[in-house]
Amino acid sequence: MCGIVGYFGEEDAIKHVMEGLRRLEYRGYDSAGISYHDAKQKDLLVFKETGRLDNLARLLPPDESRVAIGHTRWATHGRVTKANAHPHVSHDGRFIVVHNGIIENHKALAGTYLEDVPRRSATDTEIIADLLGSFVGDGDVLTALRRVLGLLEGSYALLVMDREHPGTIYAAKRKSPLLVGRKGRETIIASDMTALCAVAAEYTALTDGSIVTIDEEGLSLHDHEGELVRPEFVPVDKAYAETDKGVFDHYMLKEIHEQPAVLRRIIDQYCEDEESRIPKDVAAMFQGIERLHILAAGTSMHAGLVGKVLFEKLARIPTEVHIASEFAHHPPLLAEGSLFLLISQSGETADLRSSLEIIKERGFPSLILTNVKTSTLAREADAYLEIFAGPEIAVASTKAYTAQIAVLAVLAHAVGEGGISLRKEVALAAQAIENHLQDRHIYADLVDRHLKKPQAFYIGRGLDHAVAREAALKLKEISYIHTEGFAAGELKHGTIALIEDQVPVIAIVTEEKTAAHTRSAIAEVESRGADVVVIAMAHVAEEGDHIIIDTINPLLTPLVSVIPAQLIAYHAALARGKDIDKPRNLAKSVTVE
Ligand code: M6R
Repeated sequence: MCGIVGYFGEEDAIKHVMEGLRRLEYRGYDSAGISYHDAKQKDLLVFKETGRLDNLARLLPPDESRVAIGHTRWATHGRVTKANAHPHVSHDGRFIVVHNGIIENHKALAGTYLEDVPRRSATDTEIIADLLGSFVGDGDVLTALRRVLGLLEGSYALLVMDREHPGTIYAAKRKSPLLVGRKGRETIIASDMTALCAVAAEYTALTDGSIVTIDEEGLSLHDHEGELVRPEFVPVDKAYAETDKGVFDHYMLKEIHEQPAVLRRIIDQYCEDEESRIPKDVAAMFQGIERLHILAAGTSMHAGLVGKVLFEKLARIPTEVHIASEFAHHPPLLAEGSLFLLISQSGETADLRSSLEIIKERGFPSLILTNVKTSTLAREADAYLEIFAGPEIAVASTKAYTAQIAVLAVLAHAVGEGGISLRKEVALAAQAIENHLQDRHIYADLVDRHLKKPQAFYIGRGLDHAVAREAALKLKEISYIHTEGFAAGELKHGTIALIEDQVPVIAIVTEEKTAAHTRSAIAEVESRGADVVVIAMAHVAEEGDHIIIDTINPLLTPLVSVIPAQLIAYHAALARGKDIDKPRNLAKSVTVE
Protein backbone atom coordinates (compact mmCIF):
# COMPACT_ATOMS: atom_id res chain seq x y z
CA MET A 1 0.00 0.00 0.00
CA CYS A 2 1.01 3.65 -0.15
CA GLY A 3 4.02 4.79 1.82
CA ILE A 4 4.97 8.18 3.26
CA VAL A 5 8.34 9.56 4.28
CA GLY A 6 9.31 13.08 5.36
CA TYR A 7 12.66 14.38 6.61
CA PHE A 8 13.81 17.59 8.27
CA GLY A 9 17.39 17.94 9.47
CA GLU A 10 21.02 18.68 8.89
CA GLU A 11 21.69 15.91 6.38
CA ASP A 12 20.41 15.62 2.83
CA ALA A 13 16.63 15.28 3.02
CA ILE A 14 16.31 14.05 -0.58
CA LYS A 15 18.69 11.17 0.12
CA HIS A 16 16.89 10.21 3.32
CA VAL A 17 13.43 10.39 1.78
CA MET A 18 14.45 8.32 -1.25
CA GLU A 19 16.13 5.78 1.03
CA GLY A 20 13.00 5.65 3.21
CA LEU A 21 10.82 5.12 0.14
CA ARG A 22 13.10 2.30 -0.98
CA ARG A 23 12.62 0.65 2.38
CA LEU A 24 8.86 0.89 1.84
CA GLU A 25 8.99 -0.70 -1.61
CA TYR A 26 8.09 -4.08 -0.11
CA ARG A 27 4.63 -2.74 0.72
CA GLY A 28 3.78 -2.58 -2.99
CA TYR A 29 3.41 0.58 -5.13
CA ASP A 30 2.96 1.66 -8.71
CA SER A 31 4.27 5.26 -8.77
CA ALA A 32 6.28 7.58 -6.59
CA GLY A 33 7.01 11.24 -5.99
CA ILE A 34 8.96 13.71 -3.89
CA SER A 35 8.88 17.39 -3.03
CA TYR A 36 11.77 19.28 -1.47
CA HIS A 37 12.89 22.77 -0.65
CA ASP A 38 15.43 24.00 -3.16
CA ALA A 39 17.41 26.75 -1.43
CA LYS A 40 18.93 28.08 -4.69
CA GLN A 41 15.61 28.50 -6.45
CA LYS A 42 13.94 29.43 -3.16
CA ASP A 43 11.06 27.14 -4.07
CA LEU A 44 9.51 23.77 -3.36
CA LEU A 45 10.15 21.46 -6.30
CA VAL A 46 7.91 18.51 -7.13
CA PHE A 47 8.91 15.40 -9.08
CA LYS A 48 6.80 12.32 -9.70
CA GLU A 49 6.84 9.31 -11.97
CA THR A 50 5.02 6.04 -12.58
CA GLY A 51 6.67 2.67 -12.06
CA ARG A 52 9.69 1.93 -9.93
CA LEU A 53 11.56 4.37 -7.70
CA ASP A 54 14.49 4.25 -10.10
CA ASN A 55 12.30 6.05 -12.64
CA LEU A 56 11.79 8.84 -10.12
CA ALA A 57 15.45 8.87 -9.10
CA ARG A 58 16.45 9.42 -12.76
CA LEU A 59 14.38 12.63 -12.84
CA LEU A 60 16.00 14.22 -9.82
CA PRO A 61 18.62 16.95 -10.35
CA PRO A 62 21.78 16.62 -8.22
CA ASP A 63 20.32 18.84 -5.49
CA GLU A 64 20.59 18.66 -1.73
CA SER A 65 17.95 19.87 0.65
CA ARG A 66 17.21 20.00 4.37
CA VAL A 67 13.49 19.33 4.09
CA ALA A 68 11.57 16.91 1.86
CA ILE A 69 8.46 14.74 1.70
CA GLY A 70 7.92 11.67 -0.49
CA HIS A 71 5.36 9.04 -1.34
CA THR A 72 4.92 5.67 -2.98
CA ARG A 73 1.39 5.21 -4.36
CA TRP A 74 -0.65 2.02 -4.65
CA ALA A 75 -3.57 3.08 -6.84
CA THR A 76 -7.03 3.11 -5.27
CA HIS A 77 -8.63 6.16 -6.93
CA GLY A 78 -7.60 6.68 -10.53
CA ARG A 79 -5.26 4.79 -12.80
CA VAL A 80 -1.50 4.58 -12.54
CA THR A 81 -0.50 7.90 -14.13
CA LYS A 82 1.89 10.70 -13.35
CA ALA A 83 -1.04 13.04 -12.69
CA ASN A 84 -2.44 10.66 -10.08
CA ALA A 85 0.92 10.10 -8.36
CA HIS A 86 1.67 12.09 -5.18
CA PRO A 87 2.61 14.79 -4.16
CA HIS A 88 -0.49 16.73 -5.16
CA VAL A 89 -0.30 20.50 -5.47
CA SER A 90 -3.22 22.77 -4.57
CA HIS A 91 -5.02 24.65 -7.35
CA ASP A 92 -3.28 27.89 -6.28
CA GLY A 93 0.11 26.16 -6.29
CA ARG A 94 0.73 26.88 -2.60
CA PHE A 95 0.27 23.54 -0.79
CA ILE A 96 1.92 20.21 -1.53
CA VAL A 97 0.39 17.06 -0.04
CA VAL A 98 1.21 13.36 0.21
CA HIS A 99 -1.47 11.08 1.62
CA ASN A 100 -2.10 7.46 2.63
CA GLY A 101 -5.67 6.27 3.11
CA ILE A 102 -8.97 7.06 1.43
CA ILE A 103 -11.09 10.19 1.63
CA GLU A 104 -14.56 8.73 1.23
CA ASN A 105 -16.44 12.03 0.79
CA HIS A 106 -14.01 13.64 -1.67
CA LYS A 107 -16.66 14.03 -4.37
CA ALA A 108 -19.16 15.64 -2.02
CA LEU A 109 -16.50 18.03 -0.70
CA ALA A 110 -15.45 18.99 -4.22
CA GLY A 111 -19.10 19.69 -5.07
CA THR A 112 -19.63 21.83 -1.97
CA TYR A 113 -16.39 23.79 -1.69
CA LEU A 114 -14.55 23.55 -5.00
CA GLU A 115 -17.19 23.87 -7.67
CA ASP A 116 -15.09 26.26 -9.73
CA VAL A 117 -11.81 24.41 -9.29
CA PRO A 118 -11.09 21.98 -12.13
CA ARG A 119 -9.92 18.50 -11.07
CA ARG A 120 -6.40 17.78 -12.30
CA SER A 121 -6.25 14.18 -11.15
CA ALA A 122 -8.62 11.31 -10.47
CA THR A 123 -7.47 10.98 -6.87
CA ASP A 124 -9.20 11.63 -3.58
CA THR A 125 -6.02 13.30 -2.27
CA GLU A 126 -6.02 16.36 -4.50
CA ILE A 127 -9.07 17.59 -2.62
CA ILE A 128 -7.01 17.97 0.58
CA ALA A 129 -4.52 20.26 -1.13
CA ASP A 130 -7.28 22.21 -2.86
CA LEU A 131 -9.33 22.71 0.30
CA LEU A 132 -6.23 24.00 2.08
CA GLY A 133 -5.59 26.41 -0.78
CA SER A 134 -9.18 27.64 -0.63
CA PHE A 135 -9.50 27.88 3.14
CA VAL A 136 -6.20 29.46 4.16
CA GLY A 137 -6.91 32.99 2.90
CA ASP A 138 -4.85 35.38 5.03
CA GLY A 139 -5.07 33.09 8.03
CA ASP A 140 -2.60 30.61 9.43
CA VAL A 141 -1.98 27.17 8.00
CA LEU A 142 -2.78 25.22 11.17
CA THR A 143 -6.25 26.73 11.39
CA ALA A 144 -6.92 25.95 7.72
CA LEU A 145 -5.56 22.43 8.14
CA ARG A 146 -7.78 21.79 11.17
CA ARG A 147 -10.81 22.97 9.21
CA VAL A 148 -9.95 20.67 6.27
CA LEU A 149 -9.33 17.66 8.53
CA GLY A 150 -12.64 18.27 10.27
CA LEU A 151 -14.42 17.82 6.94
CA LEU A 152 -12.68 14.63 5.82
CA GLU A 153 -14.43 11.27 6.13
CA GLY A 154 -12.30 8.14 5.84
CA SER A 155 -8.68 7.57 6.69
CA TYR A 156 -5.53 9.57 6.26
CA ALA A 157 -1.91 9.93 7.16
CA LEU A 158 -0.64 13.01 5.44
CA LEU A 159 2.27 15.38 5.13
CA VAL A 160 1.89 18.94 3.90
CA MET A 161 4.40 21.53 2.72
CA ASP A 162 3.60 25.18 2.10
CA ARG A 163 5.40 27.40 -0.46
CA GLU A 164 4.98 30.37 1.90
CA HIS A 165 6.75 28.48 4.73
CA PRO A 166 9.01 26.16 2.75
CA GLY A 167 11.01 25.05 5.79
CA THR A 168 8.03 23.49 7.55
CA ILE A 169 6.38 20.07 7.37
CA TYR A 170 2.88 19.54 8.76
CA ALA A 171 1.77 15.98 9.54
CA ALA A 172 -1.64 14.65 10.54
CA LYS A 173 -3.35 11.28 10.80
CA ARG A 174 -6.62 9.46 11.33
CA LYS A 175 -6.86 5.67 11.10
CA SER A 176 -3.73 5.34 8.89
CA PRO A 177 -0.44 4.94 10.77
CA LEU A 178 2.17 7.69 11.02
CA LEU A 179 5.34 7.56 13.13
CA VAL A 180 7.65 10.46 13.98
CA GLY A 181 11.27 9.55 14.71
CA ARG A 182 14.22 11.66 15.75
CA LYS A 183 17.93 11.59 16.40
CA GLY A 184 19.56 14.79 17.62
CA ARG A 185 18.36 17.56 15.31
CA GLU A 186 17.07 15.20 12.64
CA THR A 187 13.37 14.34 12.34
CA ILE A 188 11.95 11.65 10.09
CA ILE A 189 8.26 10.91 9.64
CA ALA A 190 7.06 7.70 8.04
CA SER A 191 4.07 5.44 7.70
CA ASP A 192 6.11 2.37 8.62
CA MET A 193 8.87 1.58 11.09
CA THR A 194 11.03 0.10 8.32
CA ALA A 195 11.47 3.54 6.75
CA LEU A 196 12.10 5.28 10.04
CA CYS A 197 14.68 3.16 11.72
CA ALA A 198 17.61 3.86 9.40
CA VAL A 199 17.68 7.43 10.75
CA ALA A 200 15.79 7.59 14.04
CA ALA A 201 17.02 6.52 17.46
CA GLU A 202 13.60 7.00 19.07
CA TYR A 203 10.06 7.49 17.81
CA THR A 204 6.51 8.30 18.76
CA ALA A 205 3.38 6.88 17.08
CA LEU A 206 0.90 9.66 16.37
CA THR A 207 -2.62 9.16 17.68
CA ASP A 208 -5.76 9.88 15.66
CA GLY A 209 -6.58 13.56 15.33
CA SER A 210 -3.12 14.83 16.24
CA ILE A 211 -1.17 17.34 14.15
CA VAL A 212 2.59 17.76 14.17
CA THR A 213 4.56 20.77 12.94
CA ILE A 214 8.28 20.39 12.23
CA ASP A 215 10.45 23.42 11.50
CA GLU A 216 13.60 25.25 12.62
CA GLU A 217 12.08 25.65 16.08
CA GLY A 218 11.74 21.89 16.49
CA LEU A 219 8.72 19.66 16.72
CA SER A 220 5.34 20.62 18.15
CA LEU A 221 2.49 18.17 18.64
CA HIS A 222 -1.17 19.15 19.04
CA ASP A 223 -3.59 16.44 20.18
CA HIS A 224 -7.10 15.87 18.77
CA GLU A 225 -8.45 18.70 20.95
CA GLY A 226 -5.84 21.14 19.66
CA GLU A 227 -3.90 21.11 22.96
CA LEU A 228 -0.12 21.36 22.72
CA VAL A 229 1.20 18.11 24.23
CA ARG A 230 4.64 16.66 24.92
CA PRO A 231 5.34 13.69 22.63
CA GLU A 232 6.51 10.54 24.36
CA PHE A 233 9.42 8.98 22.49
CA VAL A 234 10.48 5.34 22.85
CA PRO A 235 13.58 3.64 21.41
CA VAL A 236 13.39 2.33 17.85
CA ASP A 237 13.48 -1.45 17.41
CA LYS A 238 16.64 -1.82 15.31
CA ALA A 239 15.50 -5.24 14.06
CA TYR A 240 13.57 -3.26 11.45
CA ALA A 241 16.79 -1.69 10.15
CA GLU A 242 18.11 -5.07 9.04
CA THR A 243 16.29 -5.56 5.81
CA ASP A 244 18.89 -7.12 3.57
CA LYS A 245 18.41 -10.45 1.81
CA GLY A 246 21.61 -12.00 3.16
CA VAL A 247 22.74 -14.94 1.03
CA PHE A 248 19.30 -15.41 -0.53
CA ASP A 249 18.11 -14.17 -3.91
CA HIS A 250 14.72 -13.13 -2.57
CA TYR A 251 13.24 -12.06 0.74
CA MET A 252 10.65 -14.81 0.41
CA LEU A 253 13.32 -17.50 0.32
CA LYS A 254 15.16 -15.91 3.23
CA GLU A 255 11.96 -15.77 5.24
CA ILE A 256 11.11 -19.40 4.44
CA HIS A 257 14.52 -20.36 5.84
CA GLU A 258 14.03 -18.26 8.96
CA GLN A 259 11.07 -20.35 10.12
CA PRO A 260 12.91 -22.82 12.38
CA ALA A 261 14.61 -19.92 14.18
CA VAL A 262 11.29 -18.09 14.53
CA LEU A 263 9.62 -21.14 16.10
CA ARG A 264 12.49 -21.51 18.56
CA ARG A 265 12.27 -17.82 19.43
CA ILE A 266 8.55 -18.20 20.12
CA ILE A 267 9.00 -21.09 22.51
CA ASP A 268 11.81 -19.24 24.27
CA GLN A 269 9.54 -16.23 24.67
CA TYR A 270 6.37 -18.01 25.68
CA CYS A 271 7.37 -21.32 27.32
CA GLU A 272 9.52 -21.57 30.42
CA ASP A 273 10.20 -25.31 30.57
CA GLU A 274 6.63 -26.58 30.76
CA GLU A 275 5.25 -23.34 32.26
CA SER A 276 3.48 -20.87 30.01
CA ARG A 277 4.80 -17.31 29.90
CA ILE A 278 1.70 -15.92 28.23
CA PRO A 279 1.01 -12.68 30.15
CA LYS A 280 -1.50 -13.27 32.96
CA ASP A 281 -3.87 -10.53 31.78
CA VAL A 282 -4.04 -12.17 28.34
CA ALA A 283 -4.70 -15.64 29.76
CA ALA A 284 -7.36 -14.12 32.05
CA MET A 285 -9.29 -12.89 28.99
CA PHE A 286 -10.13 -16.54 28.20
CA GLN A 287 -11.57 -17.32 31.63
CA GLY A 288 -15.23 -18.25 31.46
CA ILE A 289 -15.68 -17.38 27.78
CA GLU A 290 -18.36 -19.27 25.87
CA ARG A 291 -17.03 -18.74 22.37
CA LEU A 292 -13.91 -17.52 20.65
CA HIS A 293 -14.19 -15.57 17.40
CA ILE A 294 -11.06 -15.42 15.26
CA LEU A 295 -10.94 -12.58 12.72
CA ALA A 296 -8.31 -12.15 10.04
CA ALA A 297 -7.63 -11.81 6.30
CA GLY A 298 -5.66 -13.80 3.73
CA THR A 299 -2.83 -15.89 5.12
CA SER A 300 -3.59 -14.76 8.67
CA MET A 301 -7.13 -16.08 8.24
CA HIS A 302 -5.67 -19.39 7.10
CA ALA A 303 -3.60 -19.47 10.30
CA GLY A 304 -6.90 -18.79 12.10
CA LEU A 305 -8.40 -21.95 10.55
CA VAL A 306 -5.62 -23.90 12.25
CA GLY A 307 -6.20 -21.86 15.42
CA LYS A 308 -9.82 -23.02 15.53
CA VAL A 309 -8.70 -26.66 15.70
CA LEU A 310 -6.10 -25.81 18.35
CA PHE A 311 -8.54 -23.96 20.59
CA GLU A 312 -11.23 -26.61 20.23
CA LYS A 313 -8.84 -29.53 20.84
CA LEU A 314 -6.44 -28.05 23.41
CA ALA A 315 -8.72 -25.65 25.28
CA ARG A 316 -12.22 -27.05 24.54
CA ILE A 317 -13.40 -23.56 23.51
CA PRO A 318 -15.93 -23.47 20.62
CA THR A 319 -14.29 -21.29 17.99
CA GLU A 320 -15.46 -19.58 14.82
CA VAL A 321 -13.24 -18.08 12.14
CA HIS A 322 -14.40 -14.98 10.24
CA ILE A 323 -13.06 -13.26 7.15
CA ALA A 324 -12.51 -9.73 8.45
CA SER A 325 -13.90 -7.96 5.37
CA GLU A 326 -17.15 -9.93 5.73
CA PHE A 327 -17.43 -9.48 9.47
CA ALA A 328 -16.94 -5.72 9.12
CA HIS A 329 -20.14 -5.41 7.09
CA HIS A 330 -22.15 -8.51 8.01
CA PRO A 331 -21.39 -9.35 11.63
CA PRO A 332 -23.16 -12.54 12.74
CA LEU A 333 -25.38 -12.84 15.81
CA LEU A 334 -23.02 -12.49 18.73
CA ALA A 335 -23.74 -13.96 22.13
CA GLU A 336 -22.58 -12.81 25.57
CA GLY A 337 -19.34 -14.45 26.63
CA SER A 338 -17.61 -13.95 23.28
CA LEU A 339 -13.92 -13.08 23.02
CA PHE A 340 -12.42 -11.76 19.80
CA LEU A 341 -8.98 -12.83 18.68
CA LEU A 342 -7.67 -10.82 15.72
CA ILE A 343 -4.68 -12.05 13.74
CA SER A 344 -2.65 -9.67 11.58
CA GLN A 345 1.00 -9.80 10.60
CA SER A 346 1.11 -6.06 9.92
CA GLY A 347 -1.41 -4.94 12.51
CA GLU A 348 -2.67 -2.39 9.98
CA THR A 349 -5.24 -4.28 7.88
CA ALA A 350 -8.18 -1.94 7.28
CA ASP A 351 -10.77 -4.75 7.22
CA LEU A 352 -9.70 -5.72 10.72
CA ARG A 353 -9.76 -2.15 11.94
CA SER A 354 -13.38 -1.80 10.78
CA SER A 355 -14.23 -5.11 12.46
CA LEU A 356 -12.59 -3.91 15.68
CA GLU A 357 -14.80 -0.83 15.67
CA ILE A 358 -17.86 -3.08 15.70
CA ILE A 359 -16.40 -5.31 18.41
CA LYS A 360 -15.68 -2.28 20.60
CA GLU A 361 -19.08 -0.66 19.96
CA ARG A 362 -20.71 -3.85 21.19
CA GLY A 363 -18.52 -4.01 24.26
CA PHE A 364 -16.67 -7.29 23.53
CA PRO A 365 -13.05 -7.81 24.61
CA SER A 366 -10.39 -8.04 21.90
CA LEU A 367 -6.90 -9.49 21.67
CA ILE A 368 -4.61 -9.20 18.66
CA LEU A 369 -1.78 -11.47 17.55
CA THR A 370 0.58 -9.35 15.50
CA ASN A 371 4.13 -9.18 14.27
CA VAL A 372 4.29 -5.40 14.76
CA LYS A 373 3.84 -4.31 18.33
CA THR A 374 3.93 -0.64 17.26
CA SER A 375 1.01 -1.18 14.88
CA THR A 376 -2.36 0.54 15.02
CA LEU A 377 -4.26 -2.65 15.89
CA ALA A 378 -1.83 -3.45 18.72
CA ARG A 379 -2.73 -0.05 20.16
CA GLU A 380 -6.45 -0.24 19.49
CA ALA A 381 -7.24 -3.77 20.73
CA ASP A 382 -7.56 -4.39 24.47
CA ALA A 383 -4.40 -6.51 24.47
CA TYR A 384 -1.79 -7.82 22.06
CA LEU A 385 0.56 -10.76 21.76
CA GLU A 386 3.63 -10.48 19.58
CA ILE A 387 4.44 -13.36 17.21
CA PHE A 388 8.18 -12.58 17.07
CA ALA A 389 8.62 -13.45 13.38
CA GLY A 390 10.91 -10.45 12.79
CA PRO A 391 10.31 -8.09 9.83
CA GLU A 392 8.56 -9.87 6.97
CA ILE A 393 9.38 -8.07 3.73
CA ALA A 394 8.13 -10.38 0.95
CA VAL A 395 4.50 -9.70 0.11
CA ALA A 396 3.82 -13.44 0.25
CA SER A 397 3.59 -14.24 3.93
CA THR A 398 5.51 -17.32 5.05
CA LYS A 399 7.23 -17.05 8.43
CA ALA A 400 4.37 -14.95 9.83
CA TYR A 401 1.97 -17.83 9.05
CA THR A 402 3.98 -20.44 10.93
CA ALA A 403 4.68 -17.96 13.75
CA GLN A 404 0.97 -17.21 14.08
CA ILE A 405 0.18 -20.92 14.30
CA ALA A 406 2.90 -21.50 16.88
CA VAL A 407 1.63 -18.63 19.06
CA LEU A 408 -1.96 -19.85 18.66
CA ALA A 409 -0.80 -23.28 19.85
CA VAL A 410 1.04 -21.80 22.82
CA LEU A 411 -1.99 -19.70 23.73
CA ALA A 412 -4.53 -22.53 23.35
CA HIS A 413 -2.26 -24.76 25.39
CA ALA A 414 -1.85 -22.11 28.10
CA VAL A 415 -5.58 -21.48 28.53
CA GLY A 416 -6.48 -25.16 28.17
CA GLU A 417 -5.61 -28.18 30.19
CA GLY A 418 -2.13 -28.66 28.78
CA GLY A 419 -1.48 -32.34 28.25
CA ILE A 420 1.34 -32.11 25.73
CA SER A 421 4.85 -30.71 26.08
CA LEU A 422 4.40 -27.83 23.71
CA ARG A 423 7.99 -26.67 24.02
CA LYS A 424 9.19 -30.06 22.85
CA GLU A 425 6.56 -30.45 20.13
CA VAL A 426 7.25 -27.03 18.58
CA ALA A 427 10.99 -27.70 18.78
CA LEU A 428 10.42 -30.95 16.85
CA ALA A 429 8.46 -29.03 14.24
CA ALA A 430 11.36 -26.56 13.91
CA GLN A 431 13.73 -29.48 13.42
CA ALA A 432 11.44 -31.08 10.83
CA ILE A 433 11.36 -27.82 8.85
CA GLU A 434 15.13 -27.59 9.01
CA ASN A 435 15.44 -31.17 7.77
CA HIS A 436 13.09 -30.51 4.88
CA LEU A 437 14.88 -27.34 3.83
CA GLN A 438 17.92 -29.55 3.16
CA ASP A 439 15.83 -31.08 0.32
CA ARG A 440 15.18 -27.74 -1.30
CA HIS A 441 17.05 -28.75 -4.46
CA ILE A 442 14.20 -31.10 -5.52
CA TYR A 443 11.74 -28.27 -6.12
CA ALA A 444 13.02 -26.70 -9.35
CA ASP A 445 12.70 -30.03 -11.12
CA LEU A 446 9.40 -30.96 -9.45
CA VAL A 447 7.83 -27.67 -10.53
CA ASP A 448 9.24 -28.07 -14.02
CA ARG A 449 7.70 -31.54 -14.35
CA HIS A 450 4.33 -31.00 -12.70
CA LEU A 451 3.28 -27.34 -12.88
CA LYS A 452 2.97 -26.79 -16.60
CA LYS A 453 -0.70 -25.80 -16.72
CA PRO A 454 -2.12 -22.38 -15.87
CA GLN A 455 -4.29 -23.93 -13.16
CA ALA A 456 -3.72 -26.22 -10.17
CA PHE A 457 -5.49 -27.63 -7.12
CA TYR A 458 -4.42 -28.38 -3.58
CA ILE A 459 -6.49 -30.91 -1.62
CA GLY A 460 -6.49 -32.20 1.95
CA ARG A 461 -8.72 -33.02 4.92
CA GLY A 462 -8.90 -31.49 8.39
CA LEU A 463 -5.74 -29.50 9.09
CA ASP A 464 -4.47 -30.55 5.65
CA HIS A 465 -7.47 -28.75 4.15
CA ALA A 466 -6.57 -25.59 6.10
CA VAL A 467 -3.03 -25.84 4.71
CA ALA A 468 -4.36 -26.59 1.20
CA ARG A 469 -6.10 -23.20 1.26
CA GLU A 470 -2.94 -21.39 2.34
CA ALA A 471 -0.87 -23.38 -0.19
CA ALA A 472 -3.23 -22.34 -3.00
CA LEU A 473 -3.05 -18.68 -2.00
CA LYS A 474 0.75 -18.82 -1.95
CA LEU A 475 0.98 -20.41 -5.39
CA LYS A 476 -1.54 -18.11 -7.06
CA GLU A 477 -0.30 -14.84 -5.56
CA ILE A 478 3.27 -15.12 -6.77
CA SER A 479 3.20 -17.45 -9.79
CA TYR A 480 -0.23 -16.30 -11.12
CA ILE A 481 -1.21 -19.95 -11.68
CA HIS A 482 -4.92 -20.12 -10.91
CA THR A 483 -4.96 -22.38 -7.85
CA GLU A 484 -7.71 -23.40 -5.46
CA GLY A 485 -7.46 -25.29 -2.18
CA PHE A 486 -10.25 -27.80 -1.55
CA ALA A 487 -11.43 -30.25 1.07
CA ALA A 488 -10.42 -33.53 -0.59
CA GLY A 489 -13.91 -34.99 -0.15
CA GLU A 490 -15.59 -31.96 -1.69
CA LEU A 491 -13.95 -32.23 -5.12
CA LYS A 492 -16.39 -34.85 -6.37
CA HIS A 493 -19.31 -32.51 -5.61
CA GLY A 494 -18.57 -30.29 -8.55
CA THR A 495 -14.96 -29.18 -8.91
CA ILE A 496 -13.84 -32.51 -10.33
CA ALA A 497 -15.44 -31.31 -13.59
CA LEU A 498 -12.37 -29.11 -14.01
CA ILE A 499 -9.95 -32.03 -13.86
CA GLU A 500 -8.57 -32.98 -17.25
CA ASP A 501 -5.31 -34.29 -18.65
CA GLN A 502 -2.21 -32.94 -16.90
CA VAL A 503 -4.02 -30.63 -14.48
CA PRO A 504 -1.84 -30.63 -11.36
CA VAL A 505 -3.51 -31.75 -8.13
CA ILE A 506 -1.27 -31.49 -5.08
CA ALA A 507 -2.51 -33.60 -2.18
CA ILE A 508 -1.45 -33.02 1.42
CA VAL A 509 -1.65 -36.16 3.56
CA THR A 510 -0.62 -35.93 7.20
CA GLU A 511 -3.68 -37.17 9.10
CA GLU A 512 -3.73 -40.88 9.87
CA LYS A 513 -7.49 -41.00 10.38
CA THR A 514 -8.33 -39.68 6.91
CA ALA A 515 -5.26 -40.67 4.88
CA ALA A 516 -7.10 -43.52 3.14
CA HIS A 517 -9.99 -41.22 2.21
CA THR A 518 -7.64 -38.64 0.74
CA ARG A 519 -5.92 -41.42 -1.21
CA SER A 520 -9.36 -42.26 -2.69
CA ALA A 521 -9.77 -38.65 -3.83
CA ILE A 522 -6.28 -38.89 -5.36
CA ALA A 523 -7.31 -42.03 -7.26
CA GLU A 524 -10.47 -40.30 -8.50
CA VAL A 525 -8.60 -37.34 -9.99
CA GLU A 526 -5.79 -39.52 -11.29
CA SER A 527 -8.27 -41.64 -13.23
CA ARG A 528 -9.45 -38.43 -14.92
CA GLY A 529 -5.94 -37.55 -16.07
CA ALA A 530 -4.74 -35.28 -13.22
CA ASP A 531 -1.02 -34.96 -12.65
CA VAL A 532 -0.91 -35.73 -8.92
CA VAL A 533 1.83 -34.65 -6.52
CA VAL A 534 1.63 -36.06 -2.99
CA ILE A 535 3.08 -34.29 0.04
CA ALA A 536 2.93 -36.89 2.82
CA MET A 537 4.03 -37.04 6.44
CA ALA A 538 6.38 -39.98 6.99
CA HIS A 539 3.95 -42.08 9.08
CA VAL A 540 1.30 -42.09 6.32
CA ALA A 541 3.63 -41.95 3.30
CA GLU A 542 3.40 -44.54 0.51
CA GLU A 543 5.75 -45.67 -2.19
CA GLY A 544 5.77 -43.13 -5.00
CA ASP A 545 4.84 -40.10 -2.90
CA HIS A 546 6.77 -37.09 -4.14
CA ILE A 547 7.57 -35.13 -0.97
CA ILE A 548 7.97 -36.73 2.45
CA ILE A 549 8.11 -34.59 5.59
CA ASP A 550 9.01 -35.71 9.11
CA THR A 551 6.19 -36.83 11.37
CA ILE A 552 5.40 -34.39 14.17
CA ASN A 553 2.55 -33.90 16.66
CA PRO A 554 -0.77 -34.27 14.77
CA LEU A 555 -2.02 -30.89 16.05
CA LEU A 556 0.99 -29.02 14.69
CA THR A 557 1.31 -30.60 11.23
CA PRO A 558 0.60 -27.30 9.37
CA LEU A 559 3.89 -25.92 10.68
CA VAL A 560 5.70 -28.45 8.51
CA SER A 561 3.26 -29.36 5.73
CA VAL A 562 3.11 -25.75 4.55
CA ILE A 563 6.86 -25.67 3.83
CA PRO A 564 6.69 -27.72 0.59
CA ALA A 565 3.83 -25.48 -0.54
CA GLN A 566 5.90 -22.35 0.10
CA LEU A 567 8.81 -23.84 -1.86
CA ILE A 568 6.56 -24.95 -4.72
CA ALA A 569 5.15 -21.41 -4.96
CA TYR A 570 8.62 -19.88 -4.84
CA HIS A 571 10.04 -22.16 -7.56
CA ALA A 572 6.96 -21.86 -9.78
CA ALA A 573 7.26 -18.05 -9.66
CA LEU A 574 11.01 -18.26 -10.23
CA ALA A 575 10.58 -20.53 -13.25
CA ARG A 576 8.02 -18.12 -14.70
CA GLY A 577 10.26 -15.10 -14.15
CA LYS A 578 7.80 -13.34 -11.85
CA ASP A 579 8.62 -10.60 -9.39
CA ILE A 580 8.61 -12.93 -6.37
CA ASP A 581 8.85 -10.42 -3.54
CA LYS A 582 6.53 -7.86 -5.11
CA PRO A 583 3.76 -9.67 -7.00
CA ARG A 584 1.54 -7.58 -9.26
CA ASN A 585 -1.44 -5.74 -7.78
CA LEU A 586 -0.58 -6.76 -4.22
CA ALA A 587 0.51 -4.78 -1.19
CA LYS A 588 2.18 -6.00 1.95
CA SER A 589 -0.09 -4.18 4.31
CA VAL A 590 -3.60 -3.59 3.07
CA THR A 591 -4.58 -0.35 4.75
CA VAL A 592 -7.68 0.35 2.66
CA GLU A 593 -10.99 -1.53 2.65
O1 M6R B 1 -1.04 -8.01 7.75
P1 M6R B 1 -2.14 -9.03 7.71
O2 M6R B 1 -1.76 -10.33 8.29
O3 M6R B 1 -3.42 -8.51 8.36
O4 M6R B 1 -2.45 -9.23 6.18
C1 M6R B 1 -3.49 -10.06 5.76
C2 M6R B 1 -3.36 -10.40 4.29
O5 M6R B 1 -3.39 -9.24 3.51
C3 M6R B 1 -2.06 -11.16 3.99
O6 M6R B 1 -1.95 -12.31 4.78
C4 M6R B 1 -2.03 -11.57 2.51
O7 M6R B 1 -3.01 -12.52 2.25
C5 M6R B 1 -0.64 -12.09 2.12
N1 M6R B 1 -0.17 -11.43 0.94
C6 M6R B 1 -0.61 -13.53 1.78
O8 M6R B 1 0.67 -13.96 1.46
